[in-house]
Parts: sequence; structure tokens; C-alpha cells
Amino acid sequence: MLKYYNNEVIKMEKKVPEHIAIIMDGNGRWAKKRGLARTFGHMEGAKALRRIIEYLSKINVKYLTVYAFSTENWNRSEDEVSTLMSLFLKYIKNEKKSMIKNGIRFFVSGRKNNVPKNLLEEIEKLQEETKENRNLTLNIAFNYGGRAELVDAVNKIIENNEKNIDEEKFKKYLYNDFPDPDLVIRTSGEYRISNFLLWQIAYAELYITDVLWPDFDEKEIEKAIESYSNRNRRFGGVENV
Ligand code: FPP
Repeated sequence: MLKYYNNEVIKMEKKVPEHIAIIMDGNGRWAKKRGLARTFGHMEGAKALRRIIEYLSKINVKYLTVYAFSTENWNRSEDEVSTLMSLFLKYIKNEKKSMIKNGIRFFVSGRKNNVPKNLLEEIEKLQEETKENRNLTLNIAFNYGGRAELVDAVNKIIENNEKNIDEEKFKKYLYNDFPDPDLVIRTSGEYRISNFLLWQIAYAELYITDVLWPDFDEKEIEKAIESYSNRNRRFGGVENV
């Protein structure tokens, strides 16, 4: 992996996760601390996301899933919800070129209902344009809920009249076929999963930091990966000695 030291990038031999999932929490608190509207926190949060994507593509992480809007976030004020919708649209428009250039596959996981039509169209276009890219898959969980994903899977299974469901078959009905996350990071110090990837994180390593999402940078993600690389993953088995 790469490490920044005195602004120089140095190479480290470390175990790098293939798939990192992030609960990007703390935008509102970041703004409040500065006497700003929550919207500013989300705007800074979008910048942090850009930074992290750039860094992760350099160190060869293959999948990044980020929780950008949950099925419960519709309960926020109309103003905040519409800010988050337009921020996502703007993000797609601004980042499109660099995603195509840098071989990033863009994918959105979540329900489509209530998402503005113009946003859905842009999502579909960018998914199509980047579908062959394999440097980093950016999976945005948007209008996403872990329970909703499981219920949607069950309904599709019933529709298809599937019988004898096992784990492998069930997985095929989830929103995507990406490998399970190895590492889940949550910023802003809350010790909760908040309905994120309930199926997929069965064996993920968890890393929680007090840093608020807009302040999360290369050094912070290095700390998370460093912590992950020292873990001993047993997947229910016994320790390897
Ligand atoms: C949680 O912080 C954050 C969100 C609900 C939105 C996440 C959105 C971004 C990081 C912007 C980038 C998004 C896209 C789609 C490109 P919070 O608002 O719950 O913070 P708080 O707990 O401090 O109030």
C-alpha cells in the first residue's frame, strides 16, 4: 500500500482489503461546529469522497461501497433531502469525466422509488458508460436499506417461483454481485450499523473513528487499513498459527 510521509508517497507491504464499505457519518455535526447549515457539511462530504476514491484507486482497492442516502433519510427536512438529491446529480456531472478516464465503474444500489427522474436517468447513463471499467468499482448505496434489500430479494425469489434456496442462490437476488466487504468504516464515532449491508457484512472487520466524514482524508484511511491489516480474520474457524 502507499503511505504519505512528509508529502512523499512511499510503498508499504500491507494487506489491502479488496472491498471497503464506508458509513460516511458526521456531515451535519461538521457544519454545526462551524455555525454553518447542514448542507455545507454534505458539500464537504462530497469532497472527502472524491479524495478517498482517488487514494483507494492508487492502492489497488477494487470495490468501495459508500452509504450516501438511506431509506430512512427521507424523514429529514424537505430542504435537506432535496439538497442531497441535487448534490448527487452534481457529483455525477462533475465526476463523470474523471471516472471514465480513471477506469472507475460507477454503480448505484438501492430502491428507485421517489428518486427524481432526471437523477435516475443520469445514474443509468453513467452506469452504462462505465460498466466495463475495472480499476475501482464505486458502489453508491442510495435510497438504500439493508432490510429493504433483503425484502426485495425475497419478493423477486417468490416472483421467479424459486425453490430450494441456499446462500449462493439467495445472493444472486441482492442489488449487485460484488464480493462482500472486508472492512467497514464508520466515521463520527457512532457504534451502529444503521441498516447498512446487513447480509454482506457478516464477516467484515469493523473500524470506527471519531473523525467526522468531511475531515476524513488519506491519513485517516491509512490508519483504518493499517488496523485492518493487523487483524486475524477467522471466518468462524480457528486461529492460524
Ligand atoms: C450522514 O451524515 C451523511 C449523509 C446522510 C449523507 C452523505 C452524503 C455525502 C457524504 C455527500 C456525498 C454524496 C453523494 C451522493 C455524492 P449526517 O448528516 O447524518 O451527519 P450528522 O450525524 O452529524 O448529523
